[in-house]
Order: sequence, then structure tokens, then C-alpha cells
Amino acid sequence: MNNIRKHFPVCKNYHYFQSAGLSPLPDFIFQKYVSNYESLLNEGDFRWKEDIEQLKNTYQQIAKHLNTEAENIVFVENNSLAMSLIGLSLLRKHEKFNIVSLEEEFPSNSVPFEYLNIEMRYVPHQQHRYSIESILQHCDQNTKAVVVSYVQYSTGFRLNIEQLGYELKKRNILFVVNATQAFPLFPIDMQKYHIDVLTCSLHKWGFCGHIGTLFITTPDFRKQYPTPIAGWFSVDTSYHNDFIYTSKNKPFALRTSAQQYQFGSYNIKNRIVISDVLNFLTGIGTENIIQHIEKMTTILIQRLQDSGINLISPVNNFFERSAIVSFTIGENKNTELINFLKHKNVIVALRNNFIRASVNIFTNEQDIIALCNGIESFLQQHT
Ligand SMILES: Cc1ncc(COP(=O)(O)O)c(C=O)c1O
Repeated sequence: MNNIRKHFPVCKNYHYFQSAGLSPLPDFIFQKYVSNYESLLNEGDFRWKEDIEQLKNTYQQIAKHLNTEAENIVFVENNSLAMSLIGLSLLRKHEKFNIVSLEEEFPSNSVPFEYLNIEMRYVPHQQHRYSIESILQHCDQNTKAVVVSYVQYSTGFRLNIEQLGYELKKRNILFVVNATQAFPLFPIDMQKYHIDVLTCSLHKWGFCGHIGTLFITTPDFRKQYPTPIAGWFSVDTSYHNDFIYTSKNKPFALRTSAQQYQFGSYNIKNRIVISDVLNFLTGIGTENIIQHIEKMTTILIQRLQDSGINLISPVNNFFERSAIVSFTIGENKNTELINFLKHKNVIVALRNNFIRASVNIFTNEQDIIALCNGIESFLQQHT
């Protein structure tokens, strides 16, 4: 993994534990952006069709990673929009229903539905864990969907989505998974886990900045719940000789693929870079990535426990761990510690009043030593 580090200039500046906020760009992705924008500079629209082809290939690549089909994949602006689309679709079809979700979810999983006046039922956490039984207990005959994050943003708790998907399928309840804090580090099998809708805001672990959210729906979902809003690009133009739909006041059909959610123009030059990221990660290998993340979190957890720090993340079960480790030294001292660490070039974040440290493929033991030494010297100065 040492070779990986040289691709991340951020490592020269900081001990960076804030990838759950945004993973820094590797140098080759930065170069890709530069060459993509040079093309806009020097050639304008000339390569647009090539870019469209590249995006189609990118969808295929993503599809392989998630065991789904390219036609199910689209990008939308952000996770909040993706969830709003789901909420609107459900409202068009059903009158009285509820959605079950988890108490500590990131608000993009709750605000869009609450704003639409959909009844939300939040499962309370038990030491920041959620058992499958407790989630199922909150479902009743009016539950149309369960909306959960694969990995919780503030605690790193990783849910058993395979088991939950299996149970929801039996009950005919839609399974909506926000994979923002997991993909592409942790593999996901959409078919095996019976996921109806998967979202993922790629700026977290996608190493490519703010390029939007993956919004992946099954053909069944789209059939039952077609997009609640549309734009010119949503229209099926396969029977026309122009890709732009120009008729007025005539009936039209929507594309059956997830491209119905594409609505209109978008920043294609940004979106195609995820292809290079996936090639890079595939080159490292999923097993190696997971092993490295586990190794780094294990060292960090051990050091924090040795120092008597109060861990928030549930860490006893390996399968519930992710790249995020959260802890607290007391609500009124956490912010002070974060600022203290910043002066030592150690970057962590405050989330839900906890200190969140996330390790990444470029994290090494020296980073962890810097973080833990920083915490210890803060504690020595403040006791
Ligand atoms: C689990 C999770 N989902 C979604 C988001 C982002 O939501 P959006 O794409 O609406 O900004 C975040 C963090 O910002 C997150 O941690």
C-alpha cells in the first residue's frame, strides 16, 4: 500500500482522517480533470459523443461492481434529490403509508421524506447498533419502504444489508440503501441483497470531488414508480430521428431505463472520471483494500482504548466495522480537541457531537500515531 500514498499529495500536508467528509483527489484524477477541461477549452463540444460513449462504459463498470445492469444507473445532483424522487414517486401511488429508517441517519435520508409529509418511523439505536429484528419490528402493513445507510455517517456502524434485504423481500417492502459511506470500498451485490434503490454520493469515497450521487433503480421499481418529474432528456426518442424531443402537446413515453431521471444536461466531463477511480481500486483489489482499512482501524481502536478514550463506534464485531471510528472525550471538549489537532496538521471532524476519524487506503501507522499522540498531549494539558 506504500505505493498508493505517493498518489495523494494531501499526505504531504496533513494526517488526513476526514475522507468520510471528502476523500482527497489522487494526482492522476486531478490530471484527468485537467485534460477533460483542456478539451472543453480547445475543442468545445467536439468530443461530446465520445464522452457519451465513455459514460456508457462507466455505467457498465459501475454495474459490474454492484451486480446490476448499466441501464439501471444514473447520476443525480445529490443524495437529497435522489431521496426526494423516491418520496414523490411513492406519494403518487399510495395514500397512507410510512417509511422506516434509523435514528442516527444523515439528514438526506430523512428531511426529503419529512418535507413531503410522509410518516417516518425511526428505529432507536442500541449503543449505536441496529439489529435487524428492531428494524422489522417498526414495519407494519403500511410500510412501503425501509431507507437505511449501509454505513452510518457519524458512528461507522455497518448494517447487515444482506439479511435485511432478505427479510424485506419476504414482506414485499422496498429496500432503499444509501451506500455513500461504503461504496466503492465495501462490495455490494444489489441482486443478492434485494436492493430496490441504491444511492451513493461519490464525493465521500469516490476520490473525485463533488460529482453527484449514483441513483440506481431496478426495472421493477421504475415500472411501479416511474419518475415523478421529467425533462427533455427523460423522453424516449428511439422512434424519432433526433435525440432531442421537439413535439408539443403530443403524447410521449419516458425512457424505460434509469435515463428517465437524467432530465437534461449535466457535467459529463466530471462524471466520467469515476471510471479511472474504479480502475485504480480494481488494480489494488477489494480484499487488499478491506484488509488495509481493517488493519488501520484495529490499530486506531487499540490505541484509543489503551488511552481510556470513550469509543462511540460499535467495534466488537468486525462485520459491523467500516472505515469510520468515532469517539468522544466529552461533548464540551470535543471541538477544542479537534482544533488542537488541526494545529498539529491532524484532520478529524465533529459529527453528531462525536469526533469522527476515518481511515483510507493512503492512511499509514504514522498518521495514527500522530492522531493518538495529539489526543494524549491534549488530555495531559487539560487534566
Ligand atoms: C450517509 C450520507 N449520505 C449522504 C450524504 C450527502 O448527502 P447529499 O448528497 O444530499 O449532500 C452524506 C454526507 O454528506 C452522508 O454521510
